[in-house]
Amino acid sequence: MKSVSSLEQLVKQRPLPKHIGIIMDGNGRWAELRGLPRLEGHREGANRVREVTRCARRLGLQAVTLYAFSMQNWMRPWDEIEGLMALLSEYLLKERHEILDNQIKLNVIGELARLPAEVREPLLELCEASASHTEMVLTLAVSYGSREELVLAARRLAQKVAQGELSAEGIDEVAFEAELSTSGLPEVDMLVRTSGELRISNFLLWQIAYAELVFSSTLWPDFQEAQFLDALAEYQQRERRFGYTSAQLRPPSP
Ligand code: IPE
Ligand code: IPE
Ligand code: MG
Repeated sequence: MKSVSSLEQLVKQRPLPKHIGIIMDGNGRWAELRGLPRLEGHREGANRVREVTRCARRLGLQAVTLYAFSMQNWMRPWDEIEGLMALLSEYLLKERHEILDNQIKLNVIGELARLPAEVREPLLELCEASASHTEMVLTLAVSYGSREELVLAARRLAQKVAQGELSAEGIDEVAFEAELSTSGLPEVDMLVRTSGELRISNFLLWQIAYAELVFSSTLWPDFQEAQFLDALAEYQQRERRFGYTSAQLRPPSP
């Protein structure tokens, strides 16, 4: 087996994705397997967020978007939601220096109005404090749902048309994309989901149109740098054809 550092060197030599989305799944099962409360799985999962972010930054990726809490997760038992919100505030406090010192720009997508003020305020504060950073955009998807985001985009476009700011024919992919909360970020090249589930669960539906999907059976609290690098190595094996044929993509022979 290759060591983590040699795997990192290998991965660095080949084209890397600009933007990675990660569905961090399996925290509850990780805890249940150990006879622990589900929250302990979320707590351990937060440590992996730090490690994966560090590794992504070191590799020079432009953007990482992490699915931390979905719109549908509001239906979970209230004590789990409260525990998750407390962990999120703790994460913001603990990671503040790391984010600021490493020139990371923190960004958030989702319906923030539903978040408790103890989470929303420090979250927005850190986004603002890091807004001028240019090294890597770390987007947290919290209280996020892709269908909800798409409906909002359609509504805003309809309002623009009603107010005469835009014609119906003016609605194209560029105009639509501009209304999404991820507007301005590079295209999502790679989507990782941990824990063996083979679904998207309402994450970045528009944005992953041409992303390479990488599913890992590892539960998120066990998803360390080695697993992250393995996922990148798998991405690098793929041929991204975007509708073309393989032959069209090959460089012309001299
Ligand atoms: C992912 O882990 C984190 C959140 C959805 C907040 P889960 O809590 O979904 O863990 P499993 O899928 O039950 O194992
Ligand atoms: C998706 O995981 C949401 C996050 C990882 C935050 P879920 O565990 O909520 O997804 P489903 O319910 O299994 O599809
Ligand atoms: Mg889950």
